[in-house]
Parts: sequence; structure tokens; C-alpha cells
Amino acid sequence: MTDGLLVLDDVHTYYGEAHILQGISLAVRQGEVVTIIGRNGAGKTTTLRSIMGIARPRRGRILLRGQDVTGFPTHRIARSGIAWVPEERRILPNLTVLDNLRLGWLATNGGGDDRVEEVFEYFPRLRERIAQRGRHLSGGEQQMLAIARALVARPSIMLVDEPTEGLAPMLVQSLTEILAVINRRGTTVLLVEQALEVALALAHRVYVMDQGRVQFEGTPDDLRRDPGIQQRFLGV
Ligand SMILES: Nc1ncnc2c1ncn2[C@@H]1O[C@H](COP(=O)(O)OP(=O)(O)OP(=O)(O)O)[C@@H](O)[C@H]1O
Ligand SMILES: [Mg+2]
Repeated sequence: MTDGLLVLDDVHTYYGEAHILQGISLAVRQGEVVTIIGRNGAGKTTTLRSIMGIARPRRGRILLRGQDVTGFPTHRIARSGIAWVPEERRILPNLTVLDNLRLGWLATNGGGDDRVEEVFEYFPRLRERIAQRGRHLSGGEQQMLAIARALVARPSIMLVDEPTEGLAPMLVQSLTEILAVINRRGTTVLLVEQALEVALALAHRVYVMDQGRVQFEGTPDDLRRDPGIQQRFLGV
């Protein structure tokens, strides 16, 4: 498949001599939520790091709107419209919520506080905490801040790595709903998510990864109907 907003075509990525991604091909079309699921160590984060140019693919191509961006430096990839919400969130503990959010548009060379105001519509809780320092936020609020900071850049596509990890069930629920709204309002999402219910609730299409390869590709319904795949690769 070569059509799509974001396309990975036979991507191979190594850490040193370890051959981690062994030919990943996937596509995300404009407007979709596409979810990658798979066990620990499957290569999900490495896939996102490859897209961001942090782990540089040794073979294969990454295309954004048909343009080859493989090997571009990370800041250039960010500026071309891909935002990344890393697994470990990386909000700055000594900066306020507002200043953390400002970093989102500084990174893309544009914007202003109107963009910050925009993301508060999704995260009213952050508006209440605008002057708090990052370190005083709860885990859930930090995750919201990490997503909000990515949105401030008005990305064409947002890569989100395990946003619900470690959150209480009620927060998982509300974050799932917020991500659905963000997508409905026009942001394309590539989501890595271990919680199967969250993954299936949000995704238009799903990829199951294992050992650096795509083992399954289909709709959430296709996956629900396939207990074999669920058992082999997800331990369900
Ligand atoms: N910096 C690194 N150097 C060497 N090997 C690494 C590095 N980061 C990850 N790996 C290895 O690469 C493989 C894929 O890791 P990756 O983090 O992409 O998996 P993942 O699917 O995101 O797992 P998890 O669900 O635990 O986050 C694993 O075997 C991991 O041990
Ligand atoms: Mg990971």
C-alpha cells in the first residue's frame, strides 16, 4: 500500500547489530485512528521512533503525503506535521502547564497562545492547573499535558505511545473519549495501545505486531472474530 497520509514500506530498523524491525509495512489514511498492538518488546515503540527519525531505518521508506522523509532529522519531521507523544511523556517538571504547552508550538516554529486556548477545550482540567508546575500534576494530568502539547503543534498526524498505561480505569475511559473527539475533529492518529478494549474502541484499523513484524492487519471486528491471533500474539 502506498496511498495514505503516512506510509511505512518495508522498514528495517536495528539497535546496534540487533535487527528489531524486520520489514514493517503499514499505512495510515487521512482521518483514521490506526492502532498497533502487540506484546512487550514487539517493536511498537521502535516503529514510532523510526517514523520520528530517532531510530533510523537501515532499509525501507517512510512516506508522508507521498514524500520520502526517511532519515530526515527529527525536528524536520516534527515540522512537517508529525507529532509524537512518547511512552514516558517527557513533560518538563519545572515548567508550568502553560510553558509546557508553549513548547509544543515553539518546536514547530509558529503559533501563539490561541493554540493553547484551543487545546484547553479538550482538557479543561489543564486550564484549571495552568500555573502549576509539571511535577505537581498527577499521572493522568501529565499524560493529558503530553497529548495537549502535541496538539498545540496542530499536527497532521499524532503518534501516541501507550497513553493509558498506569492510569486508573476511570481516567482510561475519559482519555479514550478525548482521543476519539480529537480524531473526529480532524487529527489523524497512530496509536500504540496494549489495552485491547481501548485499542478496539478507538481504531478504524488495527495492526498486530510481534517480533518486529506485522502479524495481522484488519478492522477491530476482524480481530474480534479471530481468537487465534488474539491467543498467539496478545495472550488473550
Ligand atoms: N535502545 C535500545 N537498545 C537496544 N535494544 C533496544 C532498545 N530499545 C528497545 N530495544 C529492544 O528492541 C525490541 C523492541 O522494543 P520496543 O521498545 O520497540 O518494544 P515495544 O513493543 O514498544 O514494547 P513495550 O510494550 O514493552 O513498550 C525489544 O527487544 C527491546 O529490548
Ligand atoms: Mg513500547
